[in-house]
Amino acid sequence: MTNTEQPVFRPLNRPVRLGYVGAGNLAQRVHLPNFASLPGCELVALAEVRRSLGEEVQRRFGIAKLYAGHRAMAADPEVDAIAVSAPFALQGEIARECLLAGKHVFMEKPMAISLAQAGRILAAAREGGARLMVAYMKRYDAGNELAHGVIQEWRRTGEHGRLLYVRAHGFCGDWLAGIDAPVARSEEPPPAAPREEHLPAWLPREYGGRYVGFLQQYTHNINLLRFLLDADDDARVAHVDLDPDGRTGVVILQVAGARCVLETGQLRYHRWDEHTQAYFERGWVHTWAPPLLLRNAVAEVEIYRSDLPEAGGAPGGLDEHGVQHTITRALPEPRWSWAYKREAEHFVESLRTGAPFCSSGEDTRTDVRLMEEIYRDWLNAQT
Ligand SMILES: NC(=O)c1ccc[n+]([C@@H]2O[C@H](COP(=O)([O-])OP(=O)(O)OC[C@H]3O[C@@H](n4cnc5c(N)ncnc54)[C@H](O)[C@@H]3O)[C@@H](O)[C@H]2O)c1
Repeated sequence: MTNTEQPVFRPLNRPVRLGYVGAGNLAQRVHLPNFASLPGCELVALAEVRRSLGEEVQRRFGIAKLYAGHRAMAADPEVDAIAVSAPFALQGEIARECLLAGKHVFMEKPMAISLAQAGRILAAAREGGARLMVAYMKRYDAGNELAHGVIQEWRRTGEHGRLLYVRAHGFCGDWLAGIDAPVARSEEPPPAAPREEHLPAWLPREYGGRYVGFLQQYTHNINLLRFLLDADDDARVAHVDLDPDGRTGVVILQVAGARCVLETGQLRYHRWDEHTQAYFERGWVHTWAPPLLLRNAVAEVEIYRSDLPEAGGAPGGLDEHGVQHTITRALPEPRWSWAYKREAEHFVESLRTGAPFCSSGEDTRTDVRLMEEIYRDWLNAQT
């Protein structure tokens, strides 16, 4: 079975009764407001270890039940599915226990910080007969969906020649984009978030921080590359060149037969410096990410074509070789939409209808594998 194939699940055929674990930043700013606004979803329970924070967020969102931890929630028969956002390695362990208890899970990325942890989480999903979706919101951005459709079509028809190269650039910036959703904070200390035991066994522990920092950020870009190129597990690392910070540099990948370059770094940019461009022999498809928490902004998409006249195209002159050049800024639909809200909608609707997830846990295993390969290659090159 390739990692995009999923077993068929019975549709729920009614609103999903959702429990949410972890009333932290992302829950309050993004996921709780989004899930609460969906007609197909009933937010029935919240789990938060920090009591006063849990009570305040419960009050604000009018959630009926409050649990002191995810295990009590996972035992609640009135909860169909659980969403979780928490520190990087901890959220995978919370997800694993919820899946084992038979609850469908929506979890923030990264699913896992090692293949071994990913394997345990996916085994729990199989054992519990439950489904796992990882919240790679870029796959639900209407602009990226449009770019994906064009790339898929050009590759199928060959109308703009061979796919030559894909460039993914991720230098980050201000992801909050001035979001003004109120965020309740707590003086209570957060629960321990174990990390060491979930790191890859081969990774020298002094590289743990750099590895997790790199993985949690650029897993987004690699996951998007695989989405744009319809790649399941057909992806490998060809070359890695990172600075000693373990973050700035370039990674060359082969993804679904195409050479891809991932450019990684970090800027104090006032917007969000991320774009991905697929070059064909006679055109390109280029998509620019919006600042992440800027509600209802979609990726901007530019399509360049250098058509031979028989291929048709927009009115305009021909160059000295008889080629017509056009650039279009295609507008995706829905034009005003938020990737995070659409991913929440996708989770709920997929449970209601039994449709497969576009970003399943099984599929995401490939991203975790590639991250291990990148860091192993980099460390091997250092020694
Ligand atoms: N997709 C994106 O664009 C994006 C952006 C930022 C962060 N993230 C992801 O979000 C996650 C961080 O989320 P956050 O900033 O909201 O975290 P956070 O630390 O602010 O909140 C986590 C909350 O979970 C609670 N908690 C921990 N264990 C618990 C348990 N067993 N039961 C109940 N509650 C428990 C903690 O007390 C805390 O309040 C990270 O994994 C990160 O990768 C994703």
